[in-house]
Amino acid sequence: MTARKIIIDTDPGQDDAVAILLALASPEEIDLLGITAVAGNVPLPLTEKNARIICELAGRTDIKVFAGCDAPLSRPLVTAEHVHGKTGLDGPQMADPTMPLQDQHAVDFIIQTLRDEPSGTVTLVPIGPLTNIATAFQRAPDIIPRVQEIVLMGGAYFEVGNITPTAEFNIYVDPEAAKIVFDAGVPLVVMSLDVTHKALTTKARIDAFRAMGTKVGDMVAAWTDFFERFDMEKYGSEGAPLHDPCTVAYLIDPSLFTGRLINVEIETGSELTLGMTVADWWGITDRPKNALFIGDIDAERFYKLLAERLARL
Ligand code: RIB
Ligand code: CA
Repeated sequence: MTARKIIIDTDPGQDDAVAILLALASPEEIDLLGITAVAGNVPLPLTEKNARIICELAGRTDIKVFAGCDAPLSRPLVTAEHVHGKTGLDGPQMADPTMPLQDQHAVDFIIQTLRDEPSGTVTLVPIGPLTNIATAFQRAPDIIPRVQEIVLMGGAYFEVGNITPTAEFNIYVDPEAAKIVFDAGVPLVVMSLDVTHKALTTKARIDAFRAMGTKVGDMVAAWTDFFERFDMEKYGSEGAPLHDPCTVAYLIDPSLFTGRLINVEIETGSELTLGMTVADWWGITDRPKNALFIGDIDAERFYKLLAERLARL
């Protein structure tokens, strides 16, 4: 099996960090061409810095990190410090990164990579707001048919919203960008809250990270310890959903997940339901089936994969 060439577009975020580490720990399946940072959980200066901290933690200062858009296409930025803390990676103490940020803008990197690599061989893995991806599609429509697939974390249907009653955070921050991406015609795999809320951290699962006895294990345990307090309080759940790693886990082992090929549209017209992913789960309309909308996960096998792979770093 040849490794899948991917670009991770991210707004770290403790769960983004675990997704990036999982990708770096899986070279047989994942060829990470670059990491593009976007404003989301915290402002861009922090998300690009956090992406470099995560690469250095994994000993991968060779990974190219690019800064992208610092605000949504046409709205003020909404951030999530209440979930991720002021730094975006609250939990453990972390030193500032020393590896360089690339000079090239993230959007230009996305465009150039899709033009340079053979058509249909690059997968985009957005795990934050979709501003960078949408901007690249607007600026260079020729790259759209060259994208192999987009495997994204975002949206919700049966699980409803986490930042408003109807919207999930990544989509809500930049709904206009999400509409551009969902309408572009690129094959989509959507890891929504419907599935990520079934991938909960538990004490035993976090203890398994800590039991690794490695710096990565300790950091992931500290990040998930911090990250879970918000969701446990809000949902009264046993742990927090590890949203973003579901995308990379899907690329490593799609058998962990089940979903349905359906139409998903993005609400951009109503302030009340802004950013809602309107999923035609029961096929009521004849709108194009643009997304594999994932609804279920084998959580035990998912966490087993996570622990096995992260122990490699
Ligand atoms: O709603 C969850 C998503 O929003 C995750 O990607 C998390 O990192 C935040 O970006
Ligand atoms: Ca994220």
